[in-house]
Amino acid sequence: MREAILLVGGQGTRLRPLTIATPKPMLEVAGVPVTVHQIERLRSAGIERVILGTSYRADVFAEGLGDGSDLGVEILYAVEDEPLGTGGAIRHAADLLVSGPNDPVAVLNGDVLSGVDYAALIAGHIAADAAVTLHLTRVPDPRRYGLVPTDPHGRVLEFREKPTTPEEIVTDQINAGCYIFRRSVIDHIPSGRVVSVERETFPALLAADELVRGVVDDAYWLDLGTPQDFVRGSADLVLGHAPWPGHDPVDALVLDGAVVDSSARLTGGSCVGRGASVGRNAQVSGSVLLDGAQVGAGVRVSSSVVGAGAVIEDGAIVVDAVIGDRARIKAGNELCAGARVWPDVILGPTSVRFSSDV
Ligand code: GTP
Repeated sequence: MREAILLVGGQGTRLRPLTIATPKPMLEVAGVPVTVHQIERLRSAGIERVILGTSYRADVFAEGLGDGSDLGVEILYAVEDEPLGTGGAIRHAADLLVSGPNDPVAVLNGDVLSGVDYAALIAGHIAADAAVTLHLTRVPDPRRYGLVPTDPHGRVLEFREKPTTPEEIVTDQINAGCYIFRRSVIDHIPSGRVVSVERETFPALLAADELVRGVVDDAYWLDLGTPQDFVRGSADLVLGHAPWPGHDPVDALVLDGAVVDSSARLTGGSCVGRGASVGRNAQVSGSVLLDGAQVGAGVRVSSSVVGAGAVIEDGAIVVDAVIGDRARIKAGNELCAGARVWPDVILGPTSVRFSSDV
């Protein structure tokens, strides 16, 4: 039986206030939780059993996903009392694995949208008899990420922390947060303490001369860690740029029970949540309106997330902003570039601008 571990225990601080009530992997992109997008692609690749390594807001996963029968997989939960870091979480989840010592186990960061071919990654890993195979992706500006240079045969040479000087940018290949582990390698990770795979487990394998492979491809890849990338990921799914089997690309997705005035314009892959409403002459572009959000007449929402049940009153402008659940943005407001409004806040007329996002 093929198994996967999803690392979903992080606090998602960069996506606050959306992650105050909902852990990042359970936030919906294009109307479906990130974790569900991942599980559906894993199931297509032959994965039958998924262990969720949870910690922060663990209950939300169990309530939303249950035993996995609706998704056609078996889901089990490995709940960490204290977050154990990526390596510690993998080791902790391993107690629930049934795979044999030489079997491959897929491990995914829970906040990534990816088009990587999991089945091919697993097949290559088995053929090479590697300790670990990592999916690597190329990014134009790798400064935000850990770098993973490889030799011409795909053997990983080193793991570099985020580069700070131009000389340290030795490659544009970064860790894409998807690994295939030989199960016995997981069992060697120390248990019961915080461990980072990037800083501890992988460098130790290299030092022991174990085969750690890096597979680079051009598949779609996006880390949904920041508000900008979160709205982009949702829009990419709606527009058909990101892989979503069975979905027909559209300019905007309107979910069940949403009411959109015929004069409103929805563009750029926007998603209007269940029971949400969009008023007369409103313009919504490249944005996510979560369930029950209300966007009034003449409102402009662009590249933003409007939380569940939040209200944007007539004529307000919301650009590059995150509006918490049930917040109310009164008429006359103009929120721009990095503004974040906490849940339940009522914001009177004001103009909030930030020079850059935080
Ligand atoms: P930020 O706080 O915004 O950086 O987000 P994050 O908490 O999700 O951290 P990060 O993006 O670095 O985490 C990458 C992935 O690993 C995410 O899917 C997290 O849910 C997961 N993760 C991070 N730390 C832990 C942990 O201690 N335990 C578990 N189970 N998962 C973790």
